[in-house]
Amino acid sequence: MFTCRIYSPITQKMKYGKFMLAGLAVGLPVKKAYNYIYGDEDLIYKNYGNGCYAMVIGANDSIGEGFCKALAEKGINIVLVGKSQHNLARIADEISEKYGVKAITWFFDLSKATDTDFKALKAKTDEVEVSMLINATRLGVLKPTHKLSHNEVEGMINTTTKSLMHLLRLYLPELDKRQGRSAVIHLSSLLSISPVPILSLYGATQAFVRYITMGLSEEYSSSIDFLSYEPGSLIPENAPQELSSWKTAPLEASIAQALKDLGRKRTSYGHFKHELLAGFLHIAPTKVSLRFFYYLLNQQAEQLKQARQAKQSKSV
Ligand SMILES: NC(=O)c1ccc[n+]([C@@H]2O[C@H](COP(=O)([O-])OP(=O)(O)OC[C@H]3O[C@@H](n4cnc5c(N)ncnc54)[C@H](OP(=O)(O)O)[C@@H]3O)[C@@H](O)[C@H]2O)c1
Repeated sequence: MFTCRIYSPITQKMKYGKFMLAGLAVGLPVKKAYNYIYGDEDLIYKNYGNGCYAMVIGANDSIGEGFCKALAEKGINIVLVGKSQHNLARIADEISEKYGVKAITWFFDLSKATDTDFKALKAKTDEVEVSMLINATRLGVLKPTHKLSHNEVEGMINTTTKSLMHLLRLYLPELDKRQGRSAVIHLSSLLSISPVPILSLYGATQAFVRYITMGLSEEYSSSIDFLSYEPGSLIPENAPQELSSWKTAPLEASIAQALKDLGRKRTSYGHFKHELLAGFLHIAPTKVSLRFFYYLLNQQAEQLKQARQAKQSKSV
């Protein structure tokens, strides 16, 4: 006995149709589960793009520059704000040429800004629609507390905490009333999780940023996605191999993960290495984390001292 199969175009199409339906039935939930765990990059443009601007404060260097590039790559226009002009124009030219986005640069010193200065900055941005506010400024001085100067203390507090509040009070009303969702990303650090010796003031300012961001995330949950981004030590992907260690993570990959976490989480540590370190810091007794940071930061201060001495002896 033998069976005869008739391959008509209709039965073949039905067969392909079944395969496609089965693929969709399996593929869609898998994609949804993947996006839930790892985030969906496409949402950045859908949620905050469409001609709007991300305002990146502290855009001159590493993390701020990284955000400008990552967001421009997704088609989002950028307002680059920095204390000095040194890199702003170069980064703005690079992103507008490479990704075809609009890029505006503004010079602004947060540590010395008065109410009038902040209002002037806000008035400038009124010309464009800001949908994302990213604060990546920093001023951390690695010195024993009694050796800090008056200006260093003022600078650290003014740049990281006071100016963050002034920017929020001016920009929140506009971000809140936009038609689509808005986003605020504040750069904090792993040092915000538990108290730190040596960099105690810096650690306290990072904890301030974390607390403010978490509080606001609930207050504005219907309109603004807040993210406290708390990485550990970051180095660019093309940095020399000797800079890489168990505690460093690639800057670009960490920023990419933070952007995927935006809108899904209130806190992001970026790279999984820093996620693990954060896990340890969250469960470790304070005595253990204090010892851990004391050892790490002393080691870092010693390395800085040696590098400075080597530089000085070379120049003699
Ligand atoms: N890099 C890391 O490994 C790391 C790790 C964990 C957390 N973080 C956090 O990430 C943030 C940024 O770190 P980063 O490494 O990118 O710092 P950075 O390389 O030192 O860059 C800091 C940026 O802040 C700007 N800035 C400093 N003082 C300012 C002021 N008074 N007014 C306006 N802008 C000012 C600088 O502008 P100018 O260049 O013009 O001075 C620069 O663009 C910080 O909040 C830090 O705590 C960094």
